[in-house]
Amino acid sequence: MKKFFLAAILAVVIPVSAAGQMKVIINIDSDITDGQIIPKEIYGQFAEHLGSCIYGGLWVGPDSEIPNIDGYRTDVLEALKTLKVPVMRWPGGCFADEYHWRDGIGPREDRPRMVNSNWGGTVEDNSFGTHEFLNLCEMIGCEPYISGNVGSGTVEELAKWVEYMTAPDGPMARLRAQNGRTEPWKVKYLGVGNESWGCGGNMVVDYYTHLYRRYQTYCRNFGDNVLYKVASGATDYDYNWTEVLMKNIANHTDGISLHYYTVKGWNGSKGSATQFNAEEYYNTLGKAVEVESVIKRHIAIMDSYDPENKVDLLLDEWGTWFDVEPGTNPGHLYQQNTMRDAMVASLSLNIFHKYTKRLKMANIAQIANVLQSMVLTKDDKMVLTPTYHVFRMYNVHQEATFLPLTCSSMTFTDANGRECPVVDATASRNAEGAVNVTLTNTDLENDAEIIVSIAADGKLSVTGEILTSKDITDHNDFDSPSKVSPVEFKDFKVKDGKITVKMPAKSIVNLCIR
Ligand code: AHR
Repeated sequence: MKKFFLAAILAVVIPVSAAGQMKVIINIDSDITDGQIIPKEIYGQFAEHLGSCIYGGLWVGPDSEIPNIDGYRTDVLEALKTLKVPVMRWPGGCFADEYHWRDGIGPREDRPRMVNSNWGGTVEDNSFGTHEFLNLCEMIGCEPYISGNVGSGTVEELAKWVEYMTAPDGPMARLRAQNGRTEPWKVKYLGVGNESWGCGGNMVVDYYTHLYRRYQTYCRNFGDNVLYKVASGATDYDYNWTEVLMKNIANHTDGISLHYYTVKGWNGSKGSATQFNAEEYYNTLGKAVEVESVIKRHIAIMDSYDPENKVDLLLDEWGTWFDVEPGTNPGHLYQQNTMRDAMVASLSLNIFHKYTKRLKMANIAQIANVLQSMVLTKDDKMVLTPTYHVFRMYNVHQEATFLPLTCSSMTFTDANGRECPVVDATASRNAEGAVNVTLTNTDLENDAEIIVSIAADGKLSVTGEILTSKDITDHNDFDSPSKVSPVEFKDFKVKDGKITVKMPAKSIVNLCIR
């Protein structure tokens, strides 16, 4: 393993020069790492029966003319494998608390239909059910995260679902075998309700915690499967919800969830995903980075009840939420994805890396065709979104050792008084000893000159990749699928243990240093 002596990543933004270029000096001190590993689950995904996330996005059925493997779109499967998806949450979201798993097993032609009343009144034919989801997870090599129905289901229903999926023998295992699967699946993550304060039952928190205790009692470990139970947590700034969960159920849960969306507001227009001005851009980033103070406050509450850090925090829904694309079903939450979304993803992941002592999972909403998605599909076409490219560039940080950094970047203040760094950075060292430093320049106008100081034993070998675009509103669509795509980045010089990077405005750069 190469030995690095990285002095602290210290970023000083020197005022913009006449040429419109910021100067930033960066230092990393690998000696001050506490060995915190970035859990791969920070890069989790969320797939809900909503719009065309499942149907058309992941699943087209085995008889489709769209190229597929056993009903799963081949193009999307390949894209997800490249992404290294570590965990996928399913079947909702709000849908989960109206989902009855028995409707989604057995011969597809016999499965009952239901109305998806949460999402546009679409008829759900249940052709994608437990087998289809768990087999998909096996195919792409990710952990399943099952979101159980507490809002409209019964204790017995949830208990039997766990048994059906994971028991090696017994009545539910026999039913599973009749439906074509002899071996139990491995299911680790089990959500006991979703947004129980809202679409998951409109409960008050005390009542939910009593229900939680009861439901989780009967969710058993079968064979060698060990469940990791997740309680339905707070949204945004509802610190009381976290407080009561910690008071009432900390001894009965492995984790509690949190939801935080980068949204302008819940009433009225949320703004266009593709048409926005500079002020709206900076406001979006301001709201995105506010997640840091929200995470910190929830963690502080958890720390006070659980100083031994036994209960994890899972941000199991996050991402941008804009108005749907014109002409699409408002209940299907189909939105485009621009370079602005890439910036939100980058800044958010940088923040998540810092809190992984408590924050063990994050699931972006959602994997396909819904909100801040990885892929968009239309018939047999698929495009990778700018957010996909960020997740692919950042997957070098999965399971790597987090390298803390001090970044004294100048900040900007958005119209709502929220501060956001102009230049941001995150770094980690992987098992082979390579250091990945990912840099984010949020500025719409100004390039940045960034000097990364590194002391290492020997000559540094550095490779780079960049994601940027001419306009911040640029996005990929079916006629122009590669408008925003990462390319090799060489605009840096390595000399005397220093890497001097010329970073364009509105860009994200990863440097891999060996
Ligand atoms: O991701 C869309 C919806 O947002 C989910 O169904 C729900 O949990 C949240 O309100």
